[in-house]
Formats: sequence, C-alpha cells, structure tokens
Amino acid sequence: MENDRLDSDRITREYYDSLLIAMRHIDSVIPDTGVKLFGKRFSMPICTAALSHLNNTCEDGMAKMAEGAFMADALCFSGMGEADELKRMCETDASVIKIVKPHEKNEKVFAKILEAEEAGCFGVGMDIDHAFSADGNYDNVCGLPMRPKSLRELISFVESTHLPFVIKGVLSVQDAKKCLEAGAKGIVVSHHHGIMRSAVPPLMVLPEIKKAVGSRMTIFVDCDIESGMDAYKALALGADAVCVGRAIMGPLKDNGAAGVRDKLNEMKAELTAVMERTACDRLNKIDDSVIYHRNF
Ligand SMILES: Cc1cc2nc3c(=O)[nH]c(=O)nc-3n(C[C@H](O)[C@H](O)[C@H](O)COP(=O)(O)O)c2cc1C
Repeated sequence: MENDRLDSDRITREYYDSLLIAMRHIDSVIPDTGVKLFGKRFSMPICTAALSHLNNTCEDGMAKMAEGAFMADALCFSGMGEADELKRMCETDASVIKIVKPHEKNEKVFAKILEAEEAGCFGVGMDIDHAFSADGNYDNVCGLPMRPKSLRELISFVESTHLPFVIKGVLSVQDAKKCLEAGAKGIVVSHHHGIMRSAVPPLMVLPEIKKAVGSRMTIFVDCDIESGMDAYKALALGADAVCVGRAIMGPLKDNGAAGVRDKLNEMKAELTAVMERTACDRLNKIDDSVIYHRNF
C-alpha cells in the first residue's frame, strides 16, 4: 500500500514537472487572484485539502487548519472526523466543505450530511474513492465499513441537502459525467495521494474532464500540489481551484494556524508571479496556450 502511494505520487510529481510554461511579459500587470466558489469570493484559488486526524500534527489540528485557511481568506475542506471537531472548524469562521466517507449504511451518510449542515458548513461531499481496499475487499476506514455508491445513491445524497455537494476522488471522464448527472456542484479530481498504483496524474486527465463537463461543475484538483506553480498548471489545464494537503502539514506542525496561513499566502504569491509572467491579469485568463510538454 505504501509503495502504491509512492508510485502514483512519484509519477504525478514527474508529470507536473514535465509541464513547462511559456512567458508573456508585454502588456502584463499585477493580477487579481480572487475567485468566486459557490457564490462566495476568496482571495485565492488555493484551498486546504480534506485532511483528517491532524491531532498528531498539532493540537486541535483540524481547527487550526481551518483558522489558517480563514486568515488567508481561502476555502477549507475537511475529511472524516466527529461532529465536535467539525463544529470547532466552523467556529473559526472558515468556509468549510465537509467530505463524508462512503459509509456502508446510507443512514450514516445522511446523518453526517446533517451534522455538516448543523455545524454551519459551507458545503458537503463524499470521497467516493475510499470504497474498496487494496486487497480486493470493501474498505474499512478506522473500523468503519465502506461501500461503493451508485449514481442513484449519489443523487439521493445531493438531493438531501441545500448545501453544494462536492464529489471527491474523480479520476475519469466517466465518473465526472456521472457526478454531473447526480447534480453535484463540484468535483475534486484526485487519486487520494496514490490510493491505487499507476493512477493517472490528475493534471493528465483534467483536460478531458474539463472538456466533458465544461463550466457546469466547479473543478478542484488535489494530489501533490505544493506550490503556486503547481496551482497555475492545474488552472491552465481546466481546474477552478486546487487543494493542498500534505504540503500544509509541516507548516501546521511548526507554526499552527499561522503556518497554514503563511504556506497558502506563499503559494498565492508564486501563483501571482507566474500570472504576471504569462500576462494573465485574472484567473480566467489562464489557459493551456502557455503549456508545453517536456519530451526531450
Ligand atoms: C493525514 C491525511 C488525512 C486525510 N484524510 C482524508 C479524509 O478523511 N477524507 C478525504 O477525502 N481525504 C483525506 N485525505 C486525502 C487528501 O484530502 C488528499 O486527497 C491527498 O492527501 C492528496 O493531496 P496532497 O498530495 O496535497 O496531500 C487525507 C490525507 C492525509 C495526508
């Protein structure tokens, strides 16, 4: 399992680094990195990823992550966890999208969606890629049994809530189209830091997904996004925003909420610098016309 993760992470990193950027300085200005996500404006298209179990990284780590996102004026995702922790995240005033696990029993899923609504979450969703384990069985996460979800079940989750629903763990055009059919407002293109060996890098499949769903869903990307340059490449290939997971864990451990804020702001600064050097004054000016694939 650990080798699978390393394998897909390595291939993903190599792919990101194989994408090269042409520069355009003439007529360029200092850009605006602001983005509107589900009707709310944030200062950057860089969000904290759906992490969980951060108490070993930092005391009340999930709430500190949310606080850091709030201070940077960024959107915050949350992974699995209990209601009180989610409440503390929302009490930081961060806009939190809670990603619910694909629990075996749908009653549990509906209860977690309600929990997110009651905590005051900004959105809710599901990581559909945690249904199966690496040994061919259904997954079991921290003692909790998981199951794959059908399109019909996804529709029932989406319809059960007034919150925007974001489906995480989409890594194909087929699933992206099904998410659209389910009524999801967004997807996270992700291989869940290498949940399967030889998983296609999210940025490699992203252009086809964007072509298939257009602007009908908000497209987030995660996995190995570590810098403003990585974020720029994802936006150029069709993402509306990116999520950063492991790259904020070191700063969270060292400096708590301020560490998360600083890492997000550092990434925003690099994104700004690349936008300046490619004559993109707004995020929607970023496109793949500057991208070259290194194959020498
Ligand atoms: C400590 C840790 C806990 C995570 N917990 C969850 C979770 O509960 N739910 C989820 O959807 N993803 C979870 N993830 C996956 C992340 O959301 C993300 O998809 C993955 O780490 C890839 O992004 P990264 O390369 O920026 O870390 C977790 C990742 C880490 C490192």
